[in-house]
Parts: sequence; structure tokens; C-alpha cells
Amino acid sequence: MSVISSKDVNEIIRKTLGIINNKIMKHGEITGYILYKMMEYENTYSSEHHYTEQELVDYTMLGILHDIGLYKEDNVKNVSDFETKNLWPHSIYGFLFLKYLSPMGDKAEIVLYHHLDYNRHNLIQSRYMHIIELLSLADKMDTFMNLKEESLEQDYFSKYRDIKFSGAALDLFHKAQERYGITENLINGKYREELDVLLAKRAFSEQYKRGFLEMLVYTIDFRSEHTVIHTLATVNFAEQLGRLARLSGRDLRDLHYGALLHDLGKIAIPLNILESTGRLSDDEMKIMKAHVRITEMILEGVVDDAVLQIAVRHHEKLDGTGYHKGLTAADLTLPQQIIAVADILSALYGKRSYKEAFSKDKILSIMNGDADNGKINKNVVQSLERNYDKIIKEFEKEKENTIGLYLKIKEQYEIISERFKIFE
Ligand SMILES: [Fe+2]
Ligand SMILES: [Fe+2]
Ligand SMILES: [Fe+2]
Repeated sequence: MSVISSKDVNEIIRKTLGIINNKIMKHGEITGYILYKMMEYENTYSSEHHYTEQELVDYTMLGILHDIGLYKEDNVKNVSDFETKNLWPHSIYGFLFLKYLSPMGDKAEIVLYHHLDYNRHNLIQSRYMHIIELLSLADKMDTFMNLKEESLEQDYFSKYRDIKFSGAALDLFHKAQERYGITENLINGKYREELDVLLAKRAFSEQYKRGFLEMLVYTIDFRSEHTVIHTLATVNFAEQLGRLARLSGRDLRDLHYGALLHDLGKIAIPLNILESTGRLSDDEMKIMKAHVRITEMILEGVVDDAVLQIAVRHHEKLDGTGYHKGLTAADLTLPQQIIAVADILSALYGKRSYKEAFSKDKILSIMNGDADNGKINKNVVQSLERNYDKIIKEFEKEKENTIGLYLKIKEQYEIISERFKIFE
């Protein structure tokens, strides 16, 4: 029994990114679809290029995710602006997210170059040159079809042939369009089913799916460094407390994924509330609390129910004073009670926008207080107290790795931006 099915990996990406910005999500899907149909045409009618099923799926996924770097921007409002003016930041961030955080790292450079003009392709070296040409054209096709008046000039495709885009790729698009009716499928929505069928063909390994979920969570969390660390800490503490409580392998796995996904709904919470340095007003608190329901909306019907319930019950309290359902001890399984403890520990231990990190004594006294007041599981808190130093030490080790990765992505961003100035 797996946590998430292969086809639902795409569904969860779709739902999550769609909440942040539906337009960019749709643009990604349409671009991925156009790219897929062009490759399919080559597979059937050309002797020059052939793709294995795995390559078809991977390249299509990259097509769907090619603008994922746009989610780094704090307020992604106008896709057309990003896609026609400010081309490099999102190309570079997208590349770095995919390279360091996704299971498709070796193919990430396809995304890096999706806005590089065709007549500059000789300046770069890549074994994916051909796919880069196709993706770049597919991207322009959707930009062209979608933005209409404000967009590319009417005679764009005759004027910039082999300058901004590959003429051969455009010819291929026209042939595929004639054969498959790409635009018709885009308009009547049939493309969505076709994408589902394609992606379902590829049975992703558990490791691959896990990689995608982690990429999704960390890409979203990249908006705020504290959030990345909070998620990481919650996963790590929950796992350690789960092991100490002798949970079964299955429960531990569910706890891992539940913790990984528990704050996904925060993507819909404005940064000024997430990063607020003061006390939240009642209205702001209401908005903040909504993240649980949003997490639920995203995960429902997509991940295994046990994982879903762990994720959406992390703010429940044993005495019924938690949210969003106000459940009590009798309703809450041990893994669900553990994630609540892990979430609190992570919040107290971590440095947040509104507070400094707390000392061990202070953390344990707050948590023992909560346990004594019947809010959180006493046994779990006791086992935390007994193993506190070891738990923290293990987490700090893992944190170093992730912070290292985070810093590496930032550093690489600067280096590549500098190097790419020649393309401006
Ligand atoms: Fe782009
Ligand atoms: Fe794009
Ligand atoms: Fe939360």
C-alpha cells in the first residue's frame, strides 16, 4: 500500500500550485501537454528522435514544472510580466529547485534554458539541446495563445524564426497540431485526461514520489526560511518520538508523510501574517488557522487517509480545545497525538519571526504544563524529556544538511545570475 499513487503525484502538484497561482499552474500544464504531443509525433513519425516511455513522462513533467521558479516570487500576480520581461530569476530558481530538490535533478538544465533565444544556443552545451528547443517553443505557444493582444506581436513566428525559437520546432508543432488537434484538446479540456493517462503509465518508485513531495514542500517553504526549518523539525521530531513510542513501520511512514505535508496549506497564507513579528490580531489568527483546512483540501482524495488525518490533526488537543474540529483524546490516534507534540516542540525550539529560540528548561516546562493540563500526550512528553538532548542533537545534524542545501541554492543562484548577465 503506497502513500500516494503515481498519478496523484501530479494531482497534488496541480492542486498545490493552483492555489498559489492558477494561471501559472495552467500555463505549466498546457506547456507540458504541447511538449508531450510534439514528442509523441516524433516518436511515431520521425526516425531522428525517439523517447522511451520514461523519458516522455519525465520531459512532460519538466514541461509542467518549467516555471516552478516563479513561485519563489512573493506575489506572483502577472504571469505575462514574468514570462516576457524578467526571464532569468525564475529560470534559475526553477533549475535549482529541480536540480537539488527533485528526483529529476539530472535533467533540470532543460528548465534553466527555456527562455534562451535560439540564436544563442551555440553559447551553451547541453545533452538536452533538442528538448530545450521543443520546450522553449511549447512555452511560447501557450504564451502566444493565452496572452493574445498584450503578448507577442502578431507576426512573431515569422519574424523571429531561428532567432528567438527553433524553426524546426515550430514546423514540428504544426505537424503535431494537424495530426492531434492540440489546440482543440486544450480548449475542450481533453488534454487533462491525456496527461493523466500518460503520467499513470509511469509507475514511480516510492523514492521518486517521495522526492516529488519533498520538492513541492520545500519549494513552497522557500518563501520563508523559518518555514523550511519548521517542517524539517516537525518531520524529524515526529519520527524520533514515534520510534521511541515503538510505532509500527507503517505508522512511522504515515507519520513521516503527515508531518512533511502538515503545513502545506500555509501556501495560501499571506507572508505578512506568516512572518509577522507581533501578536496576530483575531482576524489574522483566523486566517492563520485556515491553513489546516487548506491542507485538507489539497490532500483529500490524493494521499492515503492515515497520512491525511495525521496532517490535518496537528493542532488538535486532547481536551477538545484545538482546531479545526475540536476533537478529543478518544478520537486521536497515537501518531496524531505525536505530531501535535512534534509541532509544538518545533515551534518552541525554533527561532521564529515573533520569538527567539527557547531554552531546554523553558521548552520542557511549557510542554509539561500542556501535558498536565490535558492538552497533549503525557507519555510522549515524558519520553521527550528523557531523550531531549539526543533528539535535539540528531535534529541539528539533519538541519545542517538542509540549511546547507538552502544556502547552496542561494549561492548558486548568485553565481548563475552573474554568469548569465551576458544573456540579458
Ligand atoms: Fe518561464
Ligand atoms: Fe513558461
Ligand atoms: Fe500548523
